Amino acid sequence: MSSTTTTTTSATTTARAAGSYDPARTTSGGLAGELARLETQAELSFPEELRLLRELGVTGTGGPLIEVGAGSGAVTRRLRAALPELPLIAVDIDGDLLAHADGAGAELVTADAAALPMETGSAGYVLLRYVVQHLSDPLPALAEARRVLRPGGRILVTEVDASCWGLADPWYPELAGVHAKLSASQESAGGDRTVGRRLTRLLAAAGFDDIALRPFATTSDGRPMEDFAPHLGPGRLQPLVASGALTLAEFALAADRWNRFKADPEAWVMLLGFTAAGTAP
Ligand SMILES: C[S@@+](CC[C@H](N)C(=O)[O-])C[C@H]1O[C@@H](n2cnc3c(N)ncnc32)[C@H](O)[C@@H]1O
Repeated sequence: MSSTTTTTTSATTTARAAGSYDPARTTSGGLAGELARLETQAELSFPEELRLLRELGVTGTGGPLIEVGAGSGAVTRRLRAALPELPLIAVDIDGDLLAHADGAGAELVTADAAALPMETGSAGYVLLRYVVQHLSDPLPALAEARRVLRPGGRILVTEVDASCWGLADPWYPELAGVHAKLSASQESAGGDRTVGRRLTRLLAAAGFDDIALRPFATTSDGRPMEDFAPHLGPGRLQPLVASGALTLAEFALAADRWNRFKADPEAWVMLLGFTAAGTAP
């Protein structure tokens, strides 16, 4: 796809935050902070994610690939560079956020994951990256992905699970309560940061075949620890202070431990993510 087209479906012309995701209240610095966070997050783990996408059947042919919940296009741009021949369609319910994907080399479509304005059996791949954790009921979106995939098409769902997010050394057990509050806050907004453990069962319930789950790890070996700030730093916690879910003292504790961790030349971290895949019958 050589040009970028922007399509806005009539049902979803109003840009808005979706489910437990609100780009203006996800991290410190409002929307600008979130755009930077999404970019850093993609930069950190995309090479590993791409390796898995290829292993799970994504090639440069057989598209289009519909990236549902593409957000600002952080991954769209990287997919375009890695798979230049593959037609890409970037979908998001939040038209304002999706506008930042302009120029990513994809058709942009503002739509709900559960009501895609695409023909049945028209896609080769559907990718949902860090979207399912924000949906109060992921099944309608997964069923819609199955509808738009042609038989044999592949769904790829990349997610986390808060209970096996990775490893940090040193580890600060006093932060367990703070992390629990982050998960609880997302849950109270309809999301689920422990969705990783349900991925294969969700794909089965949505009618996919040939289901597989693969973990991917990103470590601090050879990288500045600052690259991990979107995951480990206190930025994600600041909106929780504003909403009253976290006390200032808890926030200060988390900020202090992050600064200690960053300053420790022996510190090491590994983040774990998961990609589940299935085939449309
Ligand atoms: C955490 S962001 C991830 C963005 C992008 N996938 C990435 O990894 O950089 C979650 C995205 O899912 C979108 N989203 C949430 N619910 C949605 C829905 N029902 N339909 C379409 N997009 C949705 C949000 O607007 C947001 O862009």
